Amino acid sequence: MRAKAANRCSDLRESSAGLRALPDFVGPDWVRVIQRGPLAESSLRRLNWLAPMSITSTTAAHGGSDLRSACASGLGRALAQRYARAGWRVCIGDLDLARCNAALTAMQALSPACHALVCDVTREADLQSAADWLRQNWDGVDVVINNAGVALMGDIADVPLTDWQWIVDINLLGVVRGCKVFTPLLRAQGGGQLVNIASMAGLIHLPQAAAYNATKAAVIALSETLQLELEADRIRVSVVCPSFFRTDLAKNMRANSVELENQTKRLVERARVGAGVIAERIFDGVARGATHILTHPEGSIAWRLKRYLPYRFYQSIMRRTLARVQARMRRQPG
Ligand SMILES: NC(=O)c1ccc[n+]([C@@H]2O[C@H](COP(=O)([O-])OP(=O)(O)OC[C@H]3O[C@@H](n4cnc5c(N)ncnc54)[C@H](O)[C@@H]3O)[C@@H](O)[C@H]2O)c1
Repeated sequence: MRAKAANRCSDLRESSAGLRALPDFVGPDWVRVIQRGPLAESSLRRLNWLAPMSITSTTAAHGGSDLRSACASGLGRALAQRYARAGWRVCIGDLDLARCNAALTAMQALSPACHALVCDVTREADLQSAADWLRQNWDGVDVVINNAGVALMGDIADVPLTDWQWIVDINLLGVVRGCKVFTPLLRAQGGGQLVNIASMAGLIHLPQAAAYNATKAAVIALSETLQLELEADRIRVSVVCPSFFRTDLAKNMRANSVELENQTKRLVERARVGAGVIAERIFDGVARGATHILTHPEGSIAWRLKRYLPYRFYQSIMRRTLARVQARMRRQPG
């Protein structure tokens, strides 16, 4: 038993070694916790036992159809291309028809039957039209990816309620509308898969991002609810929680101060991975039928530590990590 625990400990040390290089919310404090913190042998056993999150496996229907909201840029576009490359028929939707068509042309070179339509996720009727189009033209849909999202940064006292309403309408209610509209179609055809794009911000909550964090946490809660609610209908639900990756997210964001806006831009635009890598990880997770798809290894470790450590201990690590990140940001402005 002791030998086993020692092995697990050395596995954890190995997996935590990479954390030292991380710029964002995970730093040496986490490593210290793993290496010589309060994790006794019994805690290590618990960590190891509870760690795996994927509980179902699936054979994703090759050549099936796939609707994605918000696909003309960033992650949506990368996902559409990944699925098209694998031979899927992909139907994409976004606010802007011109951008949709540009994305479509690239996808059709990989999978000629792909389709694009205009879809505003704040309008239930747009999502209903997309579902109707898929039913009439492709006999349904195998995978629905609710990807549309925007960012909002600001101090709780400064962010106007109109901005809260804006982000809730897109990030949370957009996903709610997608799930609500497509569930009857998936039920009628005997099953399928819903994939909701949340964020690591829904699990690990950094300050001055209350609205973004809250919408993403709500998407996780919604998805976990539907995992149980829809399993009898053979509808699988995956929720995706990425950390920062390079896209246009920060260009379209709202922020309450120039400093916050610049900080967020730096975190997104200088992230170590791009949307293509994240799309690949999501593609694999969806094919496995994973319930939670954590695309960044450091995010996955941080989340597990939050779940298994005493909360106050986790909070004090967060405080110190944040102070260090903020100091680094001050030293390297712009
Ligand atoms: N980039 C990151 O660091 C990061 C990290 C975690 C999670 N995410 C999430 O990934 C998802 C994709 O974002 P991205 O990073 O590719 O950003 P992006 O800005 O490149 O893409 C977002 C897309 O959403 C679309 N959109 C916005 N409002 C819409 C609406 N009302 N109806 C339809 N489409 C709408 C935009 O047109 C755009 O194509 C979002 O849900 C975001 O919260 C991003």
